[in-house]
Amino acid sequence: MSNSTNTEKKIILTGDRPTGSLHLGHYVGSLRKRVELQNTGEYDQFVMIADLQALTDNADNPGKIRDNILEVTLDYLAAGLEPDKTTIFVQSHVPALTELPMFYSNLVTVSRLERNPTVKAEIKMRNFERSLPVGFMTYPISQAADITAFKARYVPVGDDQLPMIEQTREIVSNFNRIYGEGILVEPEAILSSNSACKRLVGTDGNAKMSKSLGNCIYLKDDAKTLKQKIMSMYTDPLHINVSDPGHTENNPVFIYLEAFSTDDDFANFMPDYKNLAEMKEHYERGGLGDMKCKKFLNSVMQQMLEPIRQRREEYAKDKGALLEMLKKGTERAVEVSNETLAQVRNAIGINYFDDKTFLDKYI
Ligand code: TRP
Repeated sequence: MSNSTNTEKKIILTGDRPTGSLHLGHYVGSLRKRVELQNTGEYDQFVMIADLQALTDNADNPGKIRDNILEVTLDYLAAGLEPDKTTIFVQSHVPALTELPMFYSNLVTVSRLERNPTVKAEIKMRNFERSLPVGFMTYPISQAADITAFKARYVPVGDDQLPMIEQTREIVSNFNRIYGEGILVEPEAILSSNSACKRLVGTDGNAKMSKSLGNCIYLKDDAKTLKQKIMSMYTDPLHINVSDPGHTENNPVFIYLEAFSTDDDFANFMPDYKNLAEMKEHYERGGLGDMKCKKFLNSVMQQMLEPIRQRREEYAKDKGALLEMLKKGTERAVEVSNETLAQVRNAIGINYFDDKTFLDKYI
């Protein structure tokens, strides 16, 4: 892949915080889509390991981030990202990503940051109400830099990231209005069309699968762990006897089936029903037990995750090669983002030492 961006290709940027292994929420919310987009060959895709963003709420525990750089890299490759088709890189090694936020922060008000609903929810979850790190409060500005540094048009994300994209669009429009139209590109989110995938519930039925809630299935979970987690999933508390009518809404087993099962899965593992609609109907009528549903879900998930586990194992054999790949990806990211940084400096007019009209005034 060449160093500068291929102008014919539409640019994609996404990333993940390396605070742990990636889970199914990451997979259905965004990762699966990235693999799909990569394989169309129509995009120039950048995928970033967001270690700077991870530090915004882990300043006292950088070891955790350090330990997860290669974990996340492995999850990416296991899921099907390929380094010769997708540029995978490390955020903290791309200087433009720390410089651009300095310029952008002048275009955002504190009250606008305070209104960001995702950040608000995260502040609450982390008990940051009374001592909020500035870096955490302002990470949406840094995220705007991540996206715009590559002139990304598309950002495949789960729906909790929509406020970040919205904020990025505002920054871009302010920047372009003040410093020159067409310099930065307004991004848009690519969301999963399946509503169960936009924000996957946890195995406990909690609204979001999240490491801090302890309700995750990880891409790297082995077959036994996966089965255990599925078999102990929360279901419908009112569905006590098999014959009782059950609820499929807000029932994580059915939400996962919605997110993962296909009609082929029914033919292969659950021929009693043609599709999920028929199965749901039976559960709701009464007479279909949770065990049977969970066993089916287990078959579906094992089949989906097995090749991912295998690829992970393969890639994990050569950590040196992984690091080399990250380094190369990061070099390309530096080069591409530096072009944008130079344009931004020019547009603002602070490129004193190489701006002829400036120099002519004095020498
Ligand atoms: N905020 C994202 C997350 O929570 C990670 C991220 C950082 C990101 N920079 C980004 C996502 C840019 C998309 C685009 O995982």
